[in-house]
Amino acid sequence: MARSVDEITGSKRLRRMRKADWSRRLVRETELTVNDLIWPIFLIEGENRVEDIAAMPGVQRLSVDRAVKAAEEAASLGIPAIATFPNVAMEKRDTTGSHALDDDNLINRATRAIKAAVPEIGIITDAALDPFTDHGHDGILRDGIIVNDESVAQIARAAVGQAAAGADIVAPSDMMDGRIGAIRDALDEAGFQDVALMSYATKFASACYGPYREAIGTSGLLKGDKKTYYIDPANTEEALRETEADLAEGADMVMVKPGLPYLDICHRVKENFQVPTYVYQVSGEYAMIEAAAANGWIDGERIMMESLLAFKRAGCDGILTYFAPRAARLLRG
Ligand code: PBG
Repeated sequence: MARSVDEITGSKRLRRMRKADWSRRLVRETELTVNDLIWPIFLIEGENRVEDIAAMPGVQRLSVDRAVKAAEEAASLGIPAIATFPNVAMEKRDTTGSHALDDDNLINRATRAIKAAVPEIGIITDAALDPFTDHGHDGILRDGIIVNDESVAQIARAAVGQAAAGADIVAPSDMMDGRIGAIRDALDEAGFQDVALMSYATKFASACYGPYREAIGTSGLLKGDKKTYYIDPANTEEALRETEADLAEGADMVMVKPGLPYLDICHRVKENFQVPTYVYQVSGEYAMIEAAAANGWIDGERIMMESLLAFKRAGCDGILTYFAPRAARLLRG
């Protein structure tokens, strides 16, 4: 005789609500929407230029006019914000990243053009110096050391220039100590009280950034590694202390980077601080998914959506992802 359900589970049946699409939808706890997406895009000089990035199939470097088109596309899909990253001409890079301060550099020209054409989309700019240095580090290199305070001063000046160009959110990815407070002060002094700060509060010394460095042309330049300023991937408490410090200095939003290997950090940050928390699904994560999908080893589209949903489940309020337009199209049906 068949055993009854009651004998096995004592009437408890977690599968009961999984039996149909309608019941699964009814009990669904987490939802990914277009409002959760931030699209990072890469910039290059020139006009009507679109360059493929070998390690990031489907992602391209765009000249400013094409970046405007991308912003229009993002806005029409309902993506709330884009984040820009420039591939700066090699002859403009130097030890201190001085071109970061040029009001007419690639980031600032793109911001002005996008603001003028697509005023409804949010623009997030990175104030770190790595696109502008000839050694690929995020700060100023002196005698083999990334000097903290001098880098912070430079980054804060770059941030003011970005705000003047029209950036809505400045997101410094450099991990220098004290940069959030310094940028906040500099922005306020210059009259940019309404420009928000998204801190890359917990940025780990990860191997997942390789394709990004190809995209902005720093992979061939980088001397040494970034372990003296990014967080050791082994450390959680340190990541929480970083977040606490950045919030105390005035961060409006905090970010965890990379994404999927650091879901525990996303969860801990949200749980501990209850502040707007974002995650960056970085280039290496994107490349891993695309490579496996191109080989037919995984269903790329389903993995993309599952990974994005996982960030929401972990507590993130939004996701920087190269998948943003593709995911948005799917979400909009
Ligand atoms: C550096 C920076 C990095 C990324 C964005 N800005 C990391 C690095 O080059 O060390 C990574 C983004 C990605 O991998 O998608 N300030």
